[in-house]
Amino acid sequence: MNSKQIQESAAFIQSKLQAEPEIGLILGSGLGVLADEIENPVAISYKDIPHFPESTVSGHKGQLVAGQLEGKQVIAMQGRFHFYEGYSMEQVTFPVRVMKKLGISRLFVTNAAGGINENFQPGNLMLINDHINNMGTNPLIGPNEEELGPRFPDMSQAYNKELLKHAKQCADTLDLSIQQGVYVGNTGPTYETGAEIRMLRTLGGDAVGMSTVPEVIVASHMGIQVLGISCISNMAAGILDQPLSHDEVIETTERVRQDFLSFVKEIVKTLP
Ligand code: HPA
Repeated sequence: MNSKQIQESAAFIQSKLQAEPEIGLILGSGLGVLADEIENPVAISYKDIPHFPESTVSGHKGQLVAGQLEGKQVIAMQGRFHFYEGYSMEQVTFPVRVMKKLGISRLFVTNAAGGINENFQPGNLMLINDHINNMGTNPLIGPNEEELGPRFPDMSQAYNKELLKHAKQCADTLDLSIQQGVYVGNTGPTYETGAEIRMLRTLGGDAVGMSTVPEVIVASHMGIQVLGISCISNMAAGILDQPLSHDEVIETTERVRQDFLSFVKEIVKTLP
C-alpha cells in the first residue's frame, strides 16, 4: 500500500460524496447500527473501492456510509478489517489512511471488548484512555512515508484528552454511567485463557479485544485526534465460570445499542 493507492481509493470515494467528511467512525461488532442513523447516506461497498480488502466476519457489514450525523459530516466504516482474518497490518489500517485523505481530522473508534477490570459489567461502555499493543507487530513497520507522518511517532497523546473530556461531559448530560480504562489489543481469533487475563490485568489492562490498536497507531501517525469507545460485551476469560462465545458478544452489544447510539450522537452533536 502506498500513497498512490491511498490516493486512488480516496479519489473513487470522493467522486461519490456530496461533502468532505470531518469525522471518521469505525464501528465494531454489533455496533454498525450507528451507520443507519446517518442522514442523506451514501453507502459504498468495500468490494467496489479500489485497493480495499473485503470484510468476512459475521456481525459486520462491509461498507462505508457517508453523510450527516447530528449536523456533522461523517464517514463510517460499517465493519472493519481484522488482523485475525489474515489481512496484513497495512490492509487493516488502509481505510484510516484513506479517510484521512478524504479530510477527516477526528476518528471515533469503537469495538466490543471483554472486561478485565472486575469492577466492569457486561453492557458497560468504556472510554479508552490508553492502549497496550499486545499484537506482536506494528502497522508502521516498513519504510516510512514522511508525507504521511514521522518515523518515530509519539503515542503518549494517542487518545485525545479534549475528546475524552468532552465525551465524559456528554455521559454526564445523558446521565449515563461510563467506565474508563486501558484497552489491550490481542490478535485473536481465540479468546484468552484465564491465565492470560490474569497476566493482562497485572500489566494494567482493563478491557481486551482483537482490533482498534492498529487503526489508532496509524491515525496517531497522521495526527488524527482519536476517541475510543469499547462496549464491554462480556467479562473476559476466567472471571466467570463459563465459556465465551461470539453470540454473547453480539447479544450484549445489541442490548446496549440504544445507550451507545445516544452517547455517540451526543458527542458528535456537541463537539466544539
Ligand atoms: N476477548 C477478546 N476479544 C473480545 C472479547 C474478549 O473477551 N470480547 C469481545 N471481543
